[in-house]
Amino acid sequence: MIRPTSLGILGAAFATVALMTPSVAGAADTVPTFTKDIAPIFQEKCEACHRPDSIAPMSLITYEEARPWARSIRGRVESRSMPPWHIDKTLGIQDFKNDRSLSDAQVDTITRWVDGGAPKGDATDMPAPKVWPNEQGWNFAAQFGQKEPDLIIRSTPWTQKAGANDTWWKPVVATGLTEPRWVRAIELRPATVKGRKITHHAIARLQQEETDALARNDVDQNGAPQAGTFMEWAVGKQGEMMRPNSGKLMLPGSKIVWDIHYSNGGENITDIVELGVYFYPKGQEPKFRQVLHLMGATNAGGVDIPPNTLKQTEGFFVMRENGRVESFQPHMHLRGKAMEMSAILPNGQVQVLSYVNRFDFAWMNTYMYADDAAPLLPKGTILKIVAWHDNTAANKNNPDPNVWVGYGDRTVDEMAHAWVNVTYMGDTDYKAELDARRAKRPSTQQQQQQ
Ligand code: HEC
Repeated sequence: MIRPTSLGILGAAFATVALMTPSVAGAADTVPTFTKDIAPIFQEKCEACHRPDSIAPMSLITYEEARPWARSIRGRVESRSMPPWHIDKTLGIQDFKNDRSLSDAQVDTITRWVDGGAPKGDATDMPAPKVWPNEQGWNFAAQFGQKEPDLIIRSTPWTQKAGANDTWWKPVVATGLTEPRWVRAIELRPATVKGRKITHHAIARLQQEETDALARNDVDQNGAPQAGTFMEWAVGKQGEMMRPNSGKLMLPGSKIVWDIHYSNGGENITDIVELGVYFYPKGQEPKFRQVLHLMGATNAGGVDIPPNTLKQTEGFFVMRENGRVESFQPHMHLRGKAMEMSAILPNGQVQVLSYVNRFDFAWMNTYMYADDAAPLLPKGTILKIVAWHDNTAANKNNPDPNVWVGYGDRTVDEMAHAWVNVTYMGDTDYKAELDARRAKRPSTQQQQQQ
């Protein structure tokens, strides 16, 4: 698979669509039915968003609800624009904790269902309705024997007016912490049922003065420490439990910088988003620190995109200690097109870890590697982030291809970085992790074993 270069980016986008359209020989003679074949797929991969009081415009629970959308569904699943998941499936790691994409076989089943007239099928084939957890509660509290999280930080309220354009709401709220605390779990939720309908995405960033050199990130254009994703809320994801004996460190004077994407709910809706934090008991320090790093072009000078141009931007990050890379979240704005993270190992080998080939600003996905797939990388590895921007008229999200675009906060400015979560470990623990990985996955790549 050819990755987009500044010259080949558009061709590659078409090639991807062609590759992603499977044709299963021989299977075409039976037409799948909604009750037997489609409903289970929709329950698993669509209902999280396509059900009443969630963010998608229509429910896909019953046949009657789904049938009018059949053509549109075919188009969206074939082009892989639904469910939103923008990783190239032919390159890099493919095992994620939060994968919501359809398999090739599922795309094929849906396509054949629509092409075959989208029949309902036998009512007795219909699976039992999927039961969704109570999303208004704090789900981790009971596991820790608590009523609620140790610390709750709330965004300041925002009223999204009926018919208003999408809004990015970015209040900054102090955590109020007066001593360092180790975090073992985090939960995020819109506070109300109606709020859930308009909260397309919510990101809580942690801003604090790092004392540990290993954890420091670049400062922003105002000289303040860059605020790194602490927790993001996307539909279907409630929270994040740290691995055993791992934690994130919150420091006194820290702040939460919110970045909440509100979409139109058709009526005036006022909402806040709540961040619930669970701490390790005082005095209990986890062995491993998870640090969220900013990688790529991280400052004002790094982004320089002329009008009517496809632009490639690179950034490099040296791992000063062995570590496990836990997740990858590309961050660009409206002209963002694609982003790749690769590892240049100390022995010179290069390994592509992930490639987001259809970046979409509307979906700030964090790709969280599965436990057995999260890359283990030795000290001295260089993580290379390459970002591609499309500032031409061919990019349908481009508000104006005739202007130069530089670094900035507004959606019409650009960014070209990734947030990458790393768990650091010394040599002994790193070796133990590698051995455990090899025992579970004998095919673990050679280059990860040094
Ligand atoms: C993470 C949330 C999410 C998931 C999962 C998801 N959708 Fe969507 N879907 C949305 C949102 C939000 C929209 C409206 C914005 C847009 O069009 O992108 C949408 C729009 C659509 C549309 C276009 C509707 C129109 O107005 O024409 C179709 C069709 C669709 N989804 C089908 C699906 C199917 C089929 C699945 C599962 C295989 C799925 N979606 C999974 C959130 C989701």
